[in-house]
Amino acid sequence: MKICAVMFISCVVCFYFSAVVSLLAEDVGTQVLERNDGSTSLELKDVLFIIQSQSNSFHAKRAQELKSDILKQAASFHQDHPKVLLIHELEEHNGAWTILPLMSHFSAIYGRNVSWIFFFEEETRVNISKLLETLSKFERTKEWFLGKALYDEESTIIHHYAFAENPAVFKYPDFAAGWALSVPLVNKLAMALKTEPLKSDFTIDLKHEIALYILQKASGPPLTPVGEFCTVSGNAIIPVHCATTFKTYLPFCGDAVKKDDIFVAVKTCKKFHKERLPVIKKTWEDQAGLIEYFSDHEDASIPTVYLGVPNTERGHCGKTFAILKRFFHIFPKMPWLVLVDDDTLISIPRLQKLLSCYDAQEPVFLGERYGYGLGSGGYSYITGGGGMVLSRAAVEKLLQSGCHCYSNDAPDDMVLGMCFNNIGVPATHSPLFHQARPVDYPKEYLEHQIPVSFHKHWNIDPVEVYRKWLIDDEDGVRSFSVQNHHTKEEL
Ligand SMILES: *[C@@H]1O[C@H](CO)[C@@H](O)[C@H](O)[C@H]1NC(C)=O
Ligand SMILES: *[C@@H]1O[C@H](CO)[C@@H](O)[C@H](O)[C@H]1NC(C)=O
Repeated sequence: MKICAVMFISCVVCFYFSAVVSLLAEDVGTQVLERNDGSTSLELKDVLFIIQSQSNSFHAKRAQELKSDILKQAASFHQDHPKVLLIHELEEHNGAWTILPLMSHFSAIYGRNVSWIFFFEEETRVNISKLLETLSKFERTKEWFLGKALYDEESTIIHHYAFAENPAVFKYPDFAAGWALSVPLVNKLAMALKTEPLKSDFTIDLKHEIALYILQKASGPPLTPVGEFCTVSGNAIIPVHCATTFKTYLPFCGDAVKKDDIFVAVKTCKKFHKERLPVIKKTWEDQAGLIEYFSDHEDASIPTVYLGVPNTERGHCGKTFAILKRFFHIFPKMPWLVLVDDDTLISIPRLQKLLSCYDAQEPVFLGERYGYGLGSGGYSYITGGGGMVLSRAAVEKLLQSGCHCYSNDAPDDMVLGMCFNNIGVPATHSPLFHQARPVDYPKEYLEHQIPVSFHKHWNIDPVEVYRKWLIDDEDGVRSFSVQNHHTKEEL
């Protein structure tokens, strides 16, 4: 219905604009072809495709495969080479993954010769002819922010309790379904970013933050929900109208990593021995091969390990670095280290599958990625509550670098992020790790995930949450291998 209304309006507007547009067309260098029905035909060269890729070898390969698929589709209908960029290759921009810092670059380089920028993730599947058809319904000379809409049912900490009165009014795009900005909006954002800095130093949920910036700081349009941008859950059939899709997905590249190859370190302290550790024991402790509880207090009944670092109220930097050293020296053959809080809920079997896609001999620093001060020389980090996964090579490189805590109570996740940033190890993002509880995320967003972790016991029954979200059937069927989920899938 919304789209019909938009088309109707744009038809009326088009009549008015067509004269203006044909005057401008030569000037601007774009070829705007007016059709009798008032819509403009869109060609592949009018769209800049940007894959929200990552430099880790597994992710870079997936993004390359997706790019090849786009090029192949283009070749099959004899159009010019589409412009497909991998965001991690735009390395001169610190924090390129947060996208907004790239706007002035996009505006300067492509502002005059494309009409749309289409962003999508490495596992998003795109039918480019349907995508062009979809985008052509929107008048390209106007500001558009298009996507599959998500919204919060309740205000949530990950969005700083935005729109607390009625959070559902604010829509933001599900990146997995792809999203688009018309170039007039890109140009406007580039201008706005010169004078209006991003609201916060922290990048926590990028999709929400971008939508908020567009609306509040750049006075741009709200997100227009587009039905052709799709995600499907489980093995559901992809509806024919979809131009994009994203299928429920847990990366799995062959043999799961053995549980004995993962050292799980739980950070706790005396006051939570009775409150939080019983939850781990009731839920995921048995799944782990090697698990140790690091506390400020020795307690043989758990048992805990005391590393000589006193407990700190705020961060756990001292403790975490002591754990890194213990992992490195006491378990010299162990490929993987997972650091979690005592209120983290995690699926070890899913983690074993996920890690099969990564190489422990490469420096890997994996989990839910946040950013700090990325507009001004900051760094990305893996937020601790959702679990931080480090390969042996990453731990080795970090310890050799001599990077250390500036105080025992510094936030460990941020210090690790800073250290890894200094030595050129990227924070690799997996949206399957979660810093918050299931209720803090939109239902539709979780629907297409096979989550690996959640965090915090506040106002929930953690055992129930674990059962509902993190347990697989006997045969672990909720996972789909990379091989089955491949680029040749029909859309
Ligand atoms: C658009 O402009 C950029 C920068 O001038 C150039 O690199 C690119 O090739 C141009 N693309 C087209 C289709 O003209
Ligand atoms: C894209 O969609 C069109 C129309 O439904 C279909 O004919 C075509 O085969 C699809 N292309 C791909 C690559 O799936």
